[in-house]
Amino acid sequence: MPVVAVIGAQWGDEGKGKVVDLLAGKAKMVVRFSGGDNAGHTIINPFGKYALRLVPSGIFSKQTVCIIGNGVVINPEVLVEEIDLLKQNNVDTSMLNISDRAHLIMPYHTLLDGLEEESRGGKAIGTTRRGIGPAFTDKTARLGIRIGDLLDKVAFKERLSSLLEYKNAILTRVFGVEPLSLDEIYQQYCQYGEFLTPYIRETTAMIEEMIDRQEPVLLEGAQGTLLDPDFGTYPYTTSSSPLAGGGSLGAGIGPNRISSILGVYKAYCTRVGTGPMPTELNDEISDQIRERAHEYGTVTGRPRRCGWFDAVAGRFSKRVNGFTGAAITRFDILDTLPALKICVAYRLDGRTIDYFPGNVNDLERCEPVYEELPGWQTPTTDIREYEQLPEPARQYLDRIAELINCPVSLVCVGPERSQTIQVRPAF
Ligand code: IMP
Repeated sequence: MPVVAVIGAQWGDEGKGKVVDLLAGKAKMVVRFSGGDNAGHTIINPFGKYALRLVPSGIFSKQTVCIIGNGVVINPEVLVEEIDLLKQNNVDTSMLNISDRAHLIMPYHTLLDGLEEESRGGKAIGTTRRGIGPAFTDKTARLGIRIGDLLDKVAFKERLSSLLEYKNAILTRVFGVEPLSLDEIYQQYCQYGEFLTPYIRETTAMIEEMIDRQEPVLLEGAQGTLLDPDFGTYPYTTSSSPLAGGGSLGAGIGPNRISSILGVYKAYCTRVGTGPMPTELNDEISDQIRERAHEYGTVTGRPRRCGWFDAVAGRFSKRVNGFTGAAITRFDILDTLPALKICVAYRLDGRTIDYFPGNVNDLERCEPVYEELPGWQTPTTDIREYEQLPEPARQYLDRIAELINCPVSLVCVGPERSQTIQVRPAF
């Protein structure tokens, strides 16, 4: 059962797009299973540079079936634009399938995301304002509309009109803004529905058949473990589970069918939005990392907060996902630094702790305890074999593997597909 899940191990933006693009060449199927267009999976390959938000990163591999799973929330405007752009660039989209069970992001979700953020004032989460939270809230509250609902226009109109009445009451009475027009949304969403109809279907049987045939399948995660609503820095989290367990639910396969789980860790840490990040730096080193790695949000353009590798958080991610291997990305970004630090414990209220606290206020007070390692100050971008890495670079990777309790499977030393050191096979 060669089903590999690729999971963000930190706060998102770990470089999952590149890892999936790389492995997709060997996969027969890639399934996106959570999040929505809050994700921006940057891919650089012979087709050009793309920031995919909804379409699985496997779309560039000709033989790969791509699925947007039931666990994803879809803004159809964004998806239609994305498919159009791919088509314009001669990327074949005929292998794309969308689960009829995936929920839709409606115009009131995006509007409410912004209004709710503004009403939080200084306690704002720093969401991407794409309507993700409100859409998942409606899914759970049984107030959602699923993409399959667009296939029956009469039933869609009926459901939309009753839901919109309720949403408009909130918009006008709670937030004092203008109500939205039923007709406009209905017409617009019917158009999206017509465009997307050829892609919408029941997808669980397709995935099962592929697994039963022993074909390699990739589950493509979005966001990162520390943004999970259960295990992340709640409430400064996203609204669906980026974990391997979320992969089972968001694709519609049993957990026992996932054979390996690859945790994607950046060689340092970054975070966008608010919420605690114990190893955050505000000095020349973080500026240097940000500029060298262009650490600015793919979706929002916001500068990312940068800091040292946090092995306490990293070990926690390994535990709650059950990683069988780690992919260390953006390793070359550290090439110029004379010395490196890894956070190996926290100091909390005078005590040294080795766990990732569940309470966000405790985590805010955690001070990192660092171990310092020598830098290698040599370019690694042309290295393709682990043994050829400079000694201090191997030392850094080995120490991370030891601290997070997970072997390193691959190391990315640049954005191109070829700039990868494969330590052990993923499939
Ligand atoms: P939301 O998912 O838009 O509701 O945002 C909730 C939190 O998750 C915010 O801190 C966002 O910055 C963060 N977030 C959401 N998607 C991503 C992502 O793809 N990469 C990094 N951070 C993300």
